[in-house]
Amino acid sequence: MKPREIKPGVYFVGAVDWDRRLFDSLIPLPDGTSYNSYLVKGSEKTALIDTVDPTMEQVLVNHLDELKIKSIDYVIANHAEQDHSGSIPGILERYPKAKLVCTPRCKGMLVDLLLVAEDRFVTVEDRETISLGDRTLEFIHAPWVHWPETMFTYLREDKIIFSCDFFGSHLATSNLYVTDEGQVYEAAKRYYSEIMMPFRTNVQKNLEKIKDYPIDIISPSHGPVYDKPEFIIKAHRDWAFCEPRNIVVLPYVSMHGSTRRMVTHIVEALAGRGVTVKQFDLTVTDLGKLAMALVDAATIIIATPTVHAGPHPAAAYAAFLANVVRANVKFASIIGSYGWGGKTVDQLVAMIPNLKVELLPTVIVKGYPREADFAALDDLAETIARKHKEHDFK
Ligand SMILES: Cc1cc2nc3c(=O)[nH]c(=O)nc-3n(C[C@H](O)[C@H](O)[C@H](O)COP(=O)(O)O)c2cc1C
Ligand SMILES: [Fe+2]
Ligand SMILES: [Fe+2]
Repeated sequence: MKPREIKPGVYFVGAVDWDRRLFDSLIPLPDGTSYNSYLVKGSEKTALIDTVDPTMEQVLVNHLDELKIKSIDYVIANHAEQDHSGSIPGILERYPKAKLVCTPRCKGMLVDLLLVAEDRFVTVEDRETISLGDRTLEFIHAPWVHWPETMFTYLREDKIIFSCDFFGSHLATSNLYVTDEGQVYEAAKRYYSEIMMPFRTNVQKNLEKIKDYPIDIISPSHGPVYDKPEFIIKAHRDWAFCEPRNIVVLPYVSMHGSTRRMVTHIVEALAGRGVTVKQFDLTVTDLGKLAMALVDAATIIIATPTVHAGPHPAAAYAAFLANVVRANVKFASIIGSYGWGGKTVDQLVAMIPNLKVELLPTVIVKGYPREADFAALDDLAETIARKHKEHDFK
């Protein structure tokens, strides 16, 4: 695809990665992703904002050649992570006069991660500006969304914010701008759940920080550009500020069907009490979907048989994932089946120290569940429905 003009002199020069299927060697990418780089030409100076994943450096180089860019004055690094910074060394080599602009913290990281020479840097403080002539770039420090060094770049005259990973979505598309808000909402939630959810309070702070900037366009570093930014700002405000919803997330695994019977029963019991349940078979589920469901669920129930004295490894993985993304759940329970004994509950509980949850009663059954076990599952469903009501989770 060709470079795309956002405004006269402002171009998308990034790379669309249609084929990538896994991010951070963790999160599936059903719709691919993109690494967005932007070129801003002022009357006197030219800046390149972020680069692309090093696997696609040639795409960026071709875009710059196509636009006949003979010199770049500033390469802005909003973020040191390699999917955006990885092509910086190559770009600095092609444009030997270019200065690399970033936060002081980012400088140290780029030196370490990419061995960039110290004399190429210009560091900028929070809200410092650089003039490109008739255009001004303002740098807004935005720590911990999602690394300590991150910042946004605001193009004042055009009211465009280059927000890097913030507001990003994992979506490969041939469109420059969002065309299908529903699709982008999903792709952005997938992105948020893995990358931003662990830093919820920092997401809140940074949303507040940019509240008073007039923003016509958000140009993130993954996914399409937002020419109607309200919807994605609102989505992030909902995810970061709102109370969880009346939802139970239920990741489960079952080898011989015993735990499965318990799952089927409690899903019915919860649904009958007006609670939404999202059930995930951990042997086949897209872990991104599970992470997304954790963004606004109030309760997690992990369902697993006992295997070699502990939880099934797939259940342990799900618990660990919920823990590292710091899901905003308020309640947790564990249900499952065993044959002779083990430490399944203790081990799972030990895996979720980051979740600030009230632990509800567990239901652990020997073999297939019987009448009394189904009654215990009904009690658990009743407790969950009541707790959600008490907290007014909608
Ligand atoms: C490989 C394997 C290891 C197991 N290890 C244990 C164990 O350490 N302790 C235990 O109580 N049961 C153990 N079991 C038995 C299962 O927990 C029991 O059969 C349970 O009912 C299976 O639940 P499911 O039908 O949901 O798979 C093991 C079963 C398998 C297949
Ligand atoms: Fe990142
Ligand atoms: Fe990124």
